[in-house]
Amino acid sequence: SAVEKGNYRHFMQKEIFEQPAVVANTLSSYVRPYDGKVALPDNDLDLSAIDRVTIVACGTSFYAGMVAKYWIEQFARVPVDIDVASEFRYRDPVLEKGSLALFISQSGETADTLAALEHSRACGQIIAAVVNVPTSAMAREADLLLPTHAGPEIGVASTKAFTCQLAVLAAFAANLARAKGKLSEEEEREIVKHLQEAPEAINDALGHDDDIQAMAHLVAPARDVLYLGRGPDYPLALEGALKLKEISYIHAEGYAAGEMKHGPIALIDDAVPVIVLAPSGPLFEKTVSNMQEVRARGGKIIFISDAKGLAEAGDGCVATIEMPEAHPLIQPIVYAVPVQLLAYHVAVLKGTDVDQPRNLAKSVTVE
Ligand code: G6P
Repeated sequence: SAVEKGNYRHFMQKEIFEQPAVVANTLSSYVRPYDGKVALPDNDLDLSAIDRVTIVACGTSFYAGMVAKYWIEQFARVPVDIDVASEFRYRDPVLEKGSLALFISQSGETADTLAALEHSRACGQIIAAVVNVPTSAMAREADLLLPTHAGPEIGVASTKAFTCQLAVLAAFAANLARAKGKLSEEEEREIVKHLQEAPEAINDALGHDDDIQAMAHLVAPARDVLYLGRGPDYPLALEGALKLKEISYIHAEGYAAGEMKHGPIALIDDAVPVIVLAPSGPLFEKTVSNMQEVRARGGKIIFISDAKGLAEAGDGCVATIEMPEAHPLIQPIVYAVPVQLLAYHVAVLKGTDVDQPRNLAKSVTVE
């Protein structure tokens, strides 16, 4: 049956608001609250033998993969290489037989990612795929299929598929960590507990929709917008910039906060909104000091942090968005929501075709 918009103005908006439900649905097949374990679909792979992971994807799915690199290296201590599919397939990467290649795709049909998958297979890699469409080519080809249960995504700009990918990748990272002997039972129970808090935390983030709508006018007139983050929030900054570009047609760049001084700081003046993603935690002070450099040059800061972070560094920002406190493993899932909503409301204000932005396709099945 055809998917309907219901009471929402756009599919993208509906899909953003579906996230608590679809992330919960996705997690329900990867975490087992009854025994505090993470679980993958039945398979006969020996994850303990995996010494290297290669991640390949395009677009928003690539940014989910970048977050996963931080998680897999941090929790499982397994080195991760990551490429966009169009580079991977032609650069003749060094692929060891028996290493794991992880492909991430909403559609499971993106031509570059599929060609990369076939290349990995020919090199003897084990193929895992995080895919939203269970009947897709990538789903059929995978040795280990890790489905997301986001349901059909209609808006061209990916939203709920992204957060579901992150949920699966977090569970995968925890699983690999256990297989590699890097996770105690207690740590695993903690991770399961925090993952289960994700839907509620997303819901809390969605509660700021009105505030975010009200700040869209700060961004809509801009010619350039900068997004800054560190650690797993760096890929979120890239994703925020991509969302804004895709649907509002405003030029936006995501940057690692610490790299700003090597270039983009030259762009900063009072016409450039700068969106800073900085949950409190070990990287907070560093990001805040980059934020002060922006402020000193008159940049208009929209600061996304938790209550503690906002209390410490929220003064002098043109707007702030308060996120719930969240474990590092679910922070990127939660921080995805305000960047999606901001892009959405800016696009609505500009009057673009939100669900069908110009020149873009939902699934790119040609090279
Ligand atoms: C297109 C879509 C993006 C998507 C990308 C990768 O560019 O517009 O939203 O992230 O393809 O698609 P996939 O289906 O492989 O995740």
